[in-house]
Amino acid sequence: MTEIVAQRIRDLVTEIRQHDYNYHVLDEPTIGDSQYDLLLAELKRLESEHPEFLDPNSPTQRVGAKPDSGFEEVAHRIPMLSLDNVFDLDEFRQFVERMTDRLDQSDSPYLTAEPKLDGLALSIRYEHGRLVLAATRGDGQTGENVTQNVRTIRSIPLTLKGSHYPDVLEVRGEVIMKKADFAAMNQRLAEASEKTFVNPRNAAAGSLRQLDPSIVATRPLSFYAYGLGEVSEPLGTTHSEVMDALKNLGIPVNPGLVRGEPRVIETAYESLMARRDDLPYEIDGMVVKVDALTLQNALGFVARAPRFATAWKFPAQEAATRLVAIDVQVGRTGAITPVARLEPVFVGGVTVSNATLHNFDEVARLDARPGDQVMVRRAGDVIPQIVRVMTEQRSDVSRPISIPTECPICQSPVERAEGEAVIRCSGGLICRAQRLEHLKHFVSRKAMDIDGVGERLLEILIEKEWVATPADLYRLSAESIEGLDRMGEKSAHNVIQAIAQSKETTFARFLYALGIRDVGEATARTLAAEFGDLDRLIQATHDELMDVEDVGPVVASHIRAFFEVDRNRAVIQDLIDLGVHWPIATVEVSQDGPDLTGQTWVLTGTLETMTRDEASDKLRALGAKVSGSVSAKTTMLVAGPGAGSKLAKAESLGVDVIDEAALIALLGES
Ligand code: IVH
Repeated sequence: MTEIVAQRIRDLVTEIRQHDYNYHVLDEPTIGDSQYDLLLAELKRLESEHPEFLDPNSPTQRVGAKPDSGFEEVAHRIPMLSLDNVFDLDEFRQFVERMTDRLDQSDSPYLTAEPKLDGLALSIRYEHGRLVLAATRGDGQTGENVTQNVRTIRSIPLTLKGSHYPDVLEVRGEVIMKKADFAAMNQRLAEASEKTFVNPRNAAAGSLRQLDPSIVATRPLSFYAYGLGEVSEPLGTTHSEVMDALKNLGIPVNPGLVRGEPRVIETAYESLMARRDDLPYEIDGMVVKVDALTLQNALGFVARAPRFATAWKFPAQEAATRLVAIDVQVGRTGAITPVARLEPVFVGGVTVSNATLHNFDEVARLDARPGDQVMVRRAGDVIPQIVRVMTEQRSDVSRPISIPTECPICQSPVERAEGEAVIRCSGGLICRAQRLEHLKHFVSRKAMDIDGVGERLLEILIEKEWVATPADLYRLSAESIEGLDRMGEKSAHNVIQAIAQSKETTFARFLYALGIRDVGEATARTLAAEFGDLDRLIQATHDELMDVEDVGPVVASHIRAFFEVDRNRAVIQDLIDLGVHWPIATVEVSQDGPDLTGQTWVLTGTLETMTRDEASDKLRALGAKVSGSVSAKTTMLVAGPGAGSKLAKAESLGVDVIDEAALIALLGES
């Protein structure tokens, strides 16, 4: 009997380790979290009933006792170095050239490139396959013993996988917190009214240096290896072989390793930078290393960094600067938003002098005041944001700004709809700021696409009160605008011609150009396809609008509200009288396939061979109406994997349901 229990414990340990490996190293879990938890619970139970069979490296033994006082010092047998940096292509090429010269070779050496994870360096020592020591980098010579904490990091195996490994194996890598884990953890901390962390790097560092391992165990840390310290036998002859060998031993390695000539590495840099924001973790550059270990040794070290490797940095995404003022802007729909004016600062690769503050709740949450030192973040194409205010550096005289009660442009009272964070100017199109934004939208490329009518010209036209509504644009003449904003005869003529040309448009563009709240390009296109005709759309009821795919109650109300305003309908009529027109949609009913005229179809879940838009187009071509919600009027629901409430509703209403394969068969494409 006891032998059976001992065997079951060993099997569970093996099985759980394999799942840890599948999840953390291969990134290919084969069971779900709850199944995993069941295995772990069974193991815990057996171990507590039979402590004599407890393996000290069992997956249940990750949390140990906390140190009495601080962490002990650990001397690194092989120092933990840092890396030199290069910041651009020229510097990268110089780095390659220096190495090639030094090696006295005609060709540059083969290189590897991996993401430079932004966390903190860690050295983990295995002896005879068991984790015996984990230490932080410290000053590179001496670090801190954080073994108890590191044992709680689930991606770090307590024992190596397989049966063949060096007696001594020191793995070096980076402890990080993934972006999603960071966000979830911060939310948890906030809900528990505990202190949150500023960024994933601080969260990783702060967590690893927690004195209580049971707290560390609740912090979602990850680890990726990028190199070796002391080893009793070689794992390979190149860096890439070493990384593969580590992976086979169950150690998660730095993902996304690229290997090749300098050109390949240069391309990898561009590609990594482009993907930066989509990666699950924060990176601050790319580490380039010579692949062959013999060449690494030949190149050796300078001071505290290797000659065979460098960090090719990305532009920093965060920088500190001064918040000079908080201005207020009025948008097209009247939204009054605070904008941060900054002392210009180089961040995310560009000089930034404005940042968005979203709304006044956000200003209050950040407690941002003019004069404050702030941390600005710009990631990719994202609009710069203020992530933090250094309130500790604030002067005594600083005062919070007050929320405007009237529009700064037209002095109309501001409104705040219930449940909304934004405040709005109630002035509508009598507000010059709203007028300007409205007209800018009307002429923009995806709307009426009127080239040559820019912000400056619109400002002047509004100022002179020549243009109040979009229709007024079509009443302008070349003579009247010549001379405005230094405009010559030729440009004036071109502008008028561009305006005239825009009269020939499409229904979808026209709808989008109207600037109805929440009706973006895609919604405008769907509405145009669904209604085909302006009058039908103007007369559509709230329910009919809700039947349209992607139109929910809020958008439907905005559309209704827009057409209910007399002035809006007058402007539309004016535009049409002035010659704005579009081809009348003739729904081209396809000759092949069944006639679905009069039927209403709904699509839900994921389709595999086509997008939902494609499927909708095909159904419409057969005469069907495609709706976004299931009702008693629905003829058929096409349900793909992941279908949820719509499927349930269809079933409860007795609506017919088919899957994608049946849809394809019907469309005659199988
Ligand atoms: S190799 C001899 N590879 O960057 C030094 N380091 O700025 C070996 N880092 O202390 C470092 N990702 O903590 C290397 N793929 C990577 C890395 C990486 C992040 C960190 C590491 C190092 C620091 C140097």
